[in-house]
Amino acid sequence: MCFPLYHRAEGRHRINLQPKGGLAMKYRMCSLLLPLVLAACATETTVYPYAGHEELNSTTILDAPAPVPGNFAPENRFMVERGEYLVELLGCGGCHTDGALEGAPNMDKSLAGSGVGIAFMNPFRNEMPGVIYPPNITPDAETGIGTWSDQQIDAAIKAGIGRHANRRIAVMPWQGYAKMNEEDVAAVVAYLRSIKPVKHKVPDAVKPGTRATEPFVYFGTFRSR
Ligand code: HEC
Repeated sequence: MCFPLYHRAEGRHRINLQPKGGLAMKYRMCSLLLPLVLAACATETTVYPYAGHEELNSTTILDAPAPVPGNFAPENRFMVERGEYLVELLGCGGCHTDGALEGAPNMDKSLAGSGVGIAFMNPFRNEMPGVIYPPNITPDAETGIGTWSDQQIDAAIKAGIGRHANRRIAVMPWQGYAKMNEEDVAAVVAYLRSIKPVKHKVPDAVKPGTRATEPFVYFGTFRSR
């Protein structure tokens, strides 16, 4: 333990422990100085909560997958295409597509849910925040919304009522989507039903205080106090 130590945060706290005397002298100096060095480190170290995190360029607006002919009645083509346009415009794919939150969307899994979650708590205060994984919204019956009724999909988009009866959908900006008119929501629902079902299960939500085993990102605006 007899080598130059320096405090990472501030270079001026550099402490050189290489003494000039013989070997015995060196060890005596070390044993005398070590407690001081450790005490200095203990009091001066500041923990920055974002250390170990990197900034990402998430993809917010993505091309939505094309409707599959045969999955909708020909007379509904206009409605389905309008739904596709709205889904692109409203940024659904930016959250509901694997890799999009990290800036590398996997277009084979477009709208089929994200394996990267979103923390919904203040990163400065919660070392182990609650995390949700945007689910699969393709019409796969098992892992997507294939068995949901039009009303259920409508309620998820406009009122944030999802599979969790006791709470509203978190993170998704449904408060903004609540202003969509009936026709537009119906178009989005018709479009979601028309795309290719993709089997892809996203990780379960992580409760606050539990360590997430899958990756996640932070959103949010934080003010200094
Ligand atoms: C900012 C990210 C984000 C955007 C943008 C977003 N969602 Fe979501 N969505 C989520 C998350 C996260 C959940 C699950 C939240 C939860 O469990 O509390 C969710 C849930 C849903 C659900 C319920 C499905 C289920 O299995 O529970 C539907 C349907 C849905 N979103 C459709 C849409 C549509 C359509 C759009 C675009 C108009 C959209 N979302 C935009 C993040 C987003």
